[in-house]
Amino acid sequence: MLLLILIVSILAKSKTTFFCQSCGYESAKWLGKCPSCSSWNTFAEEVVVKEESNKNEWRQESSRAKSIKAKTLHEITSSQDIRISTKDSELDRVLGNGIVPGSLVLIGGEPGIGKSTLMLQVGLHLKSLRVLYVSGEESEQQLKMRAERLGRTSENFFILTETNTKNIFLSIEAVEPQLVIIDSIQTLYSPLLDSTSGSIGQVRQCAGELMKFAKETNTPVFLIGHITKDGMLAGPKVLEHMVDTVLQFEGDRHLAYRILRTTKNRFGSTSEIGIYEMLGNGLREVSNPSEILISQKEGQLSGVTIGATIEGNRPLLIEIQSLVSPASYGTPQRTPTGFDQKRLNMLLAVLEKRCGFRMGTQDVFLNMAGGIKVEDPAIDLAICISVISSMEEIPVSDKACFAAEVGLSGELRAVNRIEQRISEAEKLGFQEIYISKFSQKSLDLKKTKIQVKTFGKLAEVFQDLFG
Ligand code: TYD
Ligand code: MG
Repeated sequence: MLLLILIVSILAKSKTTFFCQSCGYESAKWLGKCPSCSSWNTFAEEVVVKEESNKNEWRQESSRAKSIKAKTLHEITSSQDIRISTKDSELDRVLGNGIVPGSLVLIGGEPGIGKSTLMLQVGLHLKSLRVLYVSGEESEQQLKMRAERLGRTSENFFILTETNTKNIFLSIEAVEPQLVIIDSIQTLYSPLLDSTSGSIGQVRQCAGELMKFAKETNTPVFLIGHITKDGMLAGPKVLEHMVDTVLQFEGDRHLAYRILRTTKNRFGSTSEIGIYEMLGNGLREVSNPSEILISQKEGQLSGVTIGATIEGNRPLLIEIQSLVSPASYGTPQRTPTGFDQKRLNMLLAVLEKRCGFRMGTQDVFLNMAGGIKVEDPAIDLAICISVISSMEEIPVSDKACFAAEVGLSGELRAVNRIEQRISEAEKLGFQEIYISKFSQKSLDLKKTKIQVKTFGKLAEVFQDLFG
């Protein structure tokens, strides 16, 4: 009997633990509410295989350690200049000038935003590289149809519909790809774990195996990842820590524009963005976004202004539309699209208190053209002008644009990189740009062809525009 218990206990080496499926918090017992991320009913039991570790092991193995040698920085050859160009200038830009060999890149985004399309397109375009596209979501026929739709083919493009990592690595050995694309990491499962695919443990395990493969063979691997309802990358936070680069693909699914943003990059800046347009035959790179974001309107309409913003490192001129109409209910509506509601409320309060406009009885609808989300505070001035232009029914010249932050006392505050904004406005043929007088110090205004108007207060701008 005692022997039986002993054998059972030896066999039962696999241990189970509970993990929060939304943040990866680990707990020995089931919990209703996660102490880490406060979400309810997210704990699931998963099997973890833990090897017995002996704390003093490293001392006993010190003889073996002699062969493992740390290197000085001089001894390591730099891989800076051997980046692989994706032949997609937007993707190259967000990756920091191309793919670094052996890097693990995670691309997240809502369903239907175009992650699979982008990766398929890039893979098919890289004709000189052997690319393996592993799909756990679509069948071969579906992928073929999509590739036909994109109008591209490549001799070196291999498709595998498989979810078991063991089989994937067997196929990798046969194909010997130079680039691996996994669509998506949540559909993979590793036979080393018992839990179902998509669970925290599996995602971590599969990503770990792929990371090992990428680093050992110096092959870049792209992982497509799902995001949850509130816009976070699904799966444990550790996934974001494991990969070298995290890209977010965002935009309104019903509008054509998509933004690829870097949220983490070990090999480049995180302030780069790439802009695409979704067409019937795939994604098109948009190299001059401002021209599209400003609609070709006929005549001058009230409530339309142009703001000079910076997205990532790129200056963008964005069209803002607002509609102000008398509120039919007691509580007026404030409905921004592509802009923070709280910030809009603040700007309306400034207009009411500092400039004397009666916003309390008006509904305000605000729209950023092209489905772009703007967080740059330099858009404030353009929004205030747009709202008052609509309320007073006075159109603003379509040759004027705005770049200043509005403070709580109605003052115009300086914004960063004003030179870049001014030169973009100049490039697009604007004749006037309204900025804060505090931005002026660092400027050399003599060189600019565009007329730069500087103001200290919001009320002074209204005086200048509307009299
Ligand atoms: P998809 O790439 O499948 O998205 P994800 O992998 O992020 O879930 O999304 C594609 C969407 O884009 C789909 O709704 C159809 C549309 N689409 C086009 O408009 N043009 C195209 O050429 C393709 C391939 C897709
Ligand atoms: Mg997909």
